[in-house]
Amino acid sequence: MQGKVAVITGAASGIGLAVAKRAAADGMKVVLADIEERALGDAARTLAATGAEVLAVVTDVSDGSSVEALRDRTLERFGAVHLLVHNNAGVEVVGPLWAVSESQWRWILGVNLWGVIHGIRVFVPLLIKQAAGHVVNTASLAGLSSPALMGPYNATKHGVVTISETLYRDLQLKGSPVGVSVLCPGYVRTGIAESHRNRPTWVDQGDSALAERGHAAARQFVEGGIAAEIVAEAVLDAVRANRFYIMTHPQTNAIVGTRMHEILEGRSPTPLPPSFVVIPYVAAPWHARSIASLEPSTTGVACQQSGFYGLCPF
Ligand SMILES: NC(=O)c1ccc[n+]([C@@H]2O[C@H](COP(=O)([O-])OP(=O)(O)OC[C@H]3O[C@@H](n4cnc5c(N)ncnc54)[C@H](O)[C@@H]3O)[C@@H](O)[C@H]2O)c1
Repeated sequence: MQGKVAVITGAASGIGLAVAKRAAADGMKVVLADIEERALGDAARTLAATGAEVLAVVTDVSDGSSVEALRDRTLERFGAVHLLVHNNAGVEVVGPLWAVSESQWRWILGVNLWGVIHGIRVFVPLLIKQAAGHVVNTASLAGLSSPALMGPYNATKHGVVTISETLYRDLQLKGSPVGVSVLCPGYVRTGIAESHRNRPTWVDQGDSALAERGHAAARQFVEGGIAAEIVAEAVLDAVRANRFYIMTHPQTNAIVGTRMHEILEGRSPTPLPPSFVVIPYVAAPWHARSIASLEPSTTGVACQQSGFYGLCPF
């Protein structure tokens, strides 16, 4: 990793910042891209103070020309993008599907899905030309399952998973050595529950009391998550090992297995509230017939006793 150039979007906070710190600690030059100018400046100063070579570029990943400018600034400063392009910036919208406004859909699709599309369109041709590099796309466990009240988020993350799987196959078909990974974490303690801080003014947030209840619930779930540093370690590990799926919450893999079985056996989806990832199921066989049949830990029992939708904010 020493001396390689890593480009990371959504790098001013949470998972992106933790990956940038980890990459810098491994001797990489890091390009931090984020829409939040002040947080980006703080992150760049913190990293530079450790002796890392850092470039900070204010970027809106939902805007193709902004991502092209990010590539140009990176090449101007470092001459190449060697290794890691981490398409990571993301936001969330919480609420029942019928209450989500058109502008909320446009915002989340723009950041979570178009952000990844632009990152691939703009950076992958460079990596192919160099015949080296690795792309990491941040999806979520919500890209492999469909928890209630997270419809727009689920749609973008399923999109990121399938785009990543296809990119892997497209590169294989071309015989390119460029690597691809897709990151699918459960809840991680970051600023994601406050992602409305970056919501553009043209986004209609709808019923504000409902939105506040959604944020409060999301905050509670995120607080029960793992540290971003654990995720960063898993990302760098996967890049080194050229591993495709990065699953950071093994206790929840059964949720993915259950969904696959529901599809293959023609069963309807098992109820799955947005609090699903904070329930630490133990000894969960991947082939369990339903989430309810898994053996929950003490915390899981407490969550279940509060009522399946006890944590539903709506
Ligand atoms: N925290 C979790 O529980 C969790 C779980 C699974 C997946 N993820 C995903 O991880 C990624 C990182 O999120 P996080 O949890 O670290 O949250 P975070 O809010 O701490 O970080 C997200 C960053 O993205 C930036 N951003 C938002 N809109 C942007 C835009 N248009 N252009 C550029 N940057 C923009 C924000 O300013 C912020 O710095 C997201 O894709 C998120 O969906 C998070």
